[in-house]
Amino acid sequence: MTDWWAELGQLQDRFWTCLCDGAAGRHPAARFLALATAGQTGGAEARMVVLRGADRGNGSLTVHTDTLSAKVSELRADPRASLLFWDPDLRLQVRLKVEVGIDTGQVVDADWQRVPEPARRVYGILPPPGADLTAPVDLATLPDRSRFAVMTCTITRIDALHLGRTTHRRAMFRRSDDWIGQWIAP
Ligand SMILES: Cc1cc2nc3c(=O)[nH]c(=O)nc-3n(C[C@H](O)[C@H](O)[C@H](O)COP(=O)(O)O)c2cc1C
Repeated sequence: MTDWWAELGQLQDRFWTCLCDGAAGRHPAARFLALATAGQTGGAEARMVVLRGADRGNGSLTVHTDTLSAKVSELRADPRASLLFWDPDLRLQVRLKVEVGIDTGQVVDADWQRVPEPARRVYGILPPPGADLTAPVDLATLPDRSRFAVMTCTITRIDALHLGRTTHRRAMFRRSDDWIGQWIAP
């Protein structure tokens, strides 16, 4: 039997399983992703986000955020971003190039209904994320539905790197090639 990392189709199946299980909260390594955006003062900005949805059919991932966070302004200025995770058990790094659409209001009502009450307070903290405080918990927290945003990350390219004990393998999967996959130098 071929090892999953030695065959393009099996490799692709494996990281999609990670993403789908991560979104469902069943796979910790792919539950929290690093999201990198183009910062508005030059250079990149990276932060952790929770993966909320993974749709292999559409090639898209879903993340929730606060409309007043810096990442939203950054993505409105330039929707191109990168998502990243490392699974230490599988010895697999996955880098996803994405274009991010941001939805708020009525269209995200079903998503808002699934956010549990305590978590809703995150979308209402005042002053807004990144503002200076006089004390670390000098905050008001009233859930504000209008600040809840769903980021739909449409994947354009997936770079998968498997660190084998003796051999490293790396493959690129592109939407423009219908995800057929191509081995590349690690
Ligand atoms: C484990 C972890 C998960 C996080 N998940 C999210 C998330 O799903 N959405 C989000 O907006 N921020 C999340 N954050 C907070 C962000 O990393 C970041 O600190 C915050 O959103 C402000 O980022 P920004 O100013 O770059 O927009 C998470 C932080 C950690 C440590």
